Formats: sequence, C-alpha cells, structure tokens
Amino acid sequence: MYQIAFFDAKPYDRPAFEAHGAAAGLSFRFFETRLSVDTVELARGCDGVCVFVNDDVNAAVLDRLAGFGVRIVALRCAGYNNVDVRHAFGRVHVVHVPAYSPHAVAEHAMALLLTSIRRIHKAYIRTRDFNFSLDGLTGFDLYGKTVGVVGTGRIGRIFADICRGFGMKVLAFDKFPAADSGLEYVPLDRLLAESDVISLHCPLTDETRHLIGRDSLDKLKKGVVLINTSRGALIDAEALIDGIKSRRIGAACLDVYEEESDVFFHDFSGHIMGDDVLARLISMPNVIVTSHQAFLTNEALNNIAETTVANLLSFFRDGQPDNELCYRCDRIESCRRARSQRCF
Ligand code: NAI
Repeated sequence: MYQIAFFDAKPYDRPAFEAHGAAAGLSFRFFETRLSVDTVELARGCDGVCVFVNDDVNAAVLDRLAGFGVRIVALRCAGYNNVDVRHAFGRVHVVHVPAYSPHAVAEHAMALLLTSIRRIHKAYIRTRDFNFSLDGLTGFDLYGKTVGVVGTGRIGRIFADICRGFGMKVLAFDKFPAADSGLEYVPLDRLLAESDVISLHCPLTDETRHLIGRDSLDKLKKGVVLINTSRGALIDAEALIDGIKSRRIGAACLDVYEEESDVFFHDFSGHIMGDDVLARLISMPNVIVTSHQAFLTNEALNNIAETTVANLLSFFRDGQPDNELCYRCDRIESCRRARSQRCF
C-alpha cells in the first residue's frame, strides 16, 4: 500500500480522502501541520505528499523530499503558486486538481456580492438582536450594472454567466482571450474604468501580483465593488484600505487575502489579531471577508479527493501522472501542454 503524507489536514478533508484512498490502495497519514522546511521530516518514508494552498513547497522542501525518495507532490487544489515548480523539474513530479467545482467558487463570489450590496451581513446581525430598523441598509440593483471579469477560465466564465442571469453587462479581460467564450474582451484599463463590480478570476503570477494596487486605484470607477476569490496577492491590501477610505472603492468582498497563510483556516477568536491590515479591513462595514471557503462544498470536496487519488494512482501505475504541472513555464494556458499534455 502506498503511503501519502497529507499536510494541513482539516476534519472536513478526511472522510472523502479516506474513502477514495482505501478503495484505491493508498494510505494517507494526516498531519494538521503545514508542509515547510521545519515539518518536511514527517514525509520521510512516504511515497508521496498531498498539500494545499498554504503549504510551502519551496526549493529546500523539494530537495529534502527528493532526498527521502518522495517522488510526487499532489496538490489538492488548482492554484500552485506555493510550489517552486521549476525547481521540481527532474526531482519530484507535481500534480494538481485543475477543476473540482468551478461552480462552487463562482457561486461564492456571487454570494459575497449579494451579501455586500444588499447589506445582508448587517441585517442578519440586526434581526438577531430584534432590531428591525432599515436605516443604512439601502443597496443597489445588479440589473443593468456593468461587471468586469478578470480571467475568463473555468470559474470566470461561470461567474460571467451568473452575472448575465442578473441582467448585468459583462466586460472581460484575459491575457489569453477565449475565442469561443462569447464574451466582450476589452483592455484592462477600460474594464477598470467602466465596471461597477470587478471580480478577479486569474491566477497569481508575477504579472498579476497587485493587479489592483496603488497604480490602479485612480483608474477605478468611483464606488466599485471588488470581489477576490482567486489569490490574495492580486490585490495590494494596504492600497485597498486607502481606496476604501478615499471612497474610490465602494466595497470589497474577499475570500482570499495577501497574508492569509498565517491566519486563515485557524480559530483566533479570543486572541488579539496581530495582522493590523486584516484587522482594519474586517473593521470596515463595507468589507466582507471569508477565509478561503469558496471551494468548500460537498461536491468539490468529493471531486478533489477523487481526482487527487486518481492523479497519484496514475503515477504509481506507470510513472505518467494525470494532471501534471508544467515545469518549464508558468503559463499553463499558453504552453504546448494544451496540445501534447506535456510541456517538457
Ligand atoms: P483557469 O486556469 O481555468 O482560468 C484562469 C484564467 O486566467 C485563464 O483564462 C487565463 O488565461 C487567465 N489569465 C492567466 N494569466 C492572466 C493575466 N496575466 N491576466 C488576466 N488573465 C490571465 O483557472 P480557474 O479554475 O478559473 O481558477 C481561477 C483562480 O481561482 C485560480 O488561479 C485559483 O487561484 C483560484 N481558486 C480559488 C479557490 C477558492 O476557494 N477561493 C478555489 C479554486 C481556485
């Protein structure tokens, strides 16, 4: 039976992985701690490791894993900015789950948007306190408004469809526009200037880091609602605070945050929040923060476990894993992998 060290394990991960793993002859060793240079020793003796968004799979960790004879890193998520993919080449195979429920993420983005603009988060707290006043709860219709979708892959396109269902005008920006999407692609600056709502669905790369930052604040339409369910560092959090204080940004819906790895997925109630930027954002009435939960549906958890187990099995079977990442480029969408299944 193959042994897989499973890092950053949460109670909700275990049932699906145990069920799919047992059926496939894989045994998972669940560790609550994250993978890092300090914890990599736990993987000694295992055939593979399974990691999530905040495990730190840097060059040193990859070298240690390779030294232990660990041959595969299985990401149980789509994004892979936490893995030094280029360094992995020739040392350790890296696989991911390209899609597990793009609907889960797109629907969460819309849930955040509706909660924010219809003040549901405020109303919920008020009525629990038997306060039935409507003061300060005025929202606005989505119908007829313009939404800018940045990144029109699986999630972005579903979100665009949901917005169309609300009667919104959709503007799109993508570095690699999809000819068959039926979307109206515009330059990024035009999207920023004309959108009442902007939702980010592109990956985090050197190019997209701080896509919304100090330089872009002046380009935004006044009162814009920003939604980020993609990766935290797409938005410069300190610039966001400035944008909200100056009223340029009307509201922010954040499922991800630049420095989330130190905070998200943990219970800090009863503690003093050490992250002043996050504390400031959460203190604002027009900011909603969820802790990277957009993926968290039963359907997605099951799909994640099923695909991860299949990825691992395909590797142990013949050394050719399904859903292997590109090692020589960080642009999975544009490389020849789309045609040949390999970019190497
Ligand atoms: P995808 O790979 O299907 O789509 C990404 C799109 O971004 C592609 O169309 C690509 O061409 C575009 N893109 C790449 N570079 C760009 C750039 N520089 N500027 C603009 N667009 C660019 O990915 P998918 O499945 O739609 O996921 C999107 C993101 O959502 C992921 O990168 C991941 O970070 C995040 N995610 C968040 C989850 C959560 O629970 N909050 C769960 C799953 C994914």
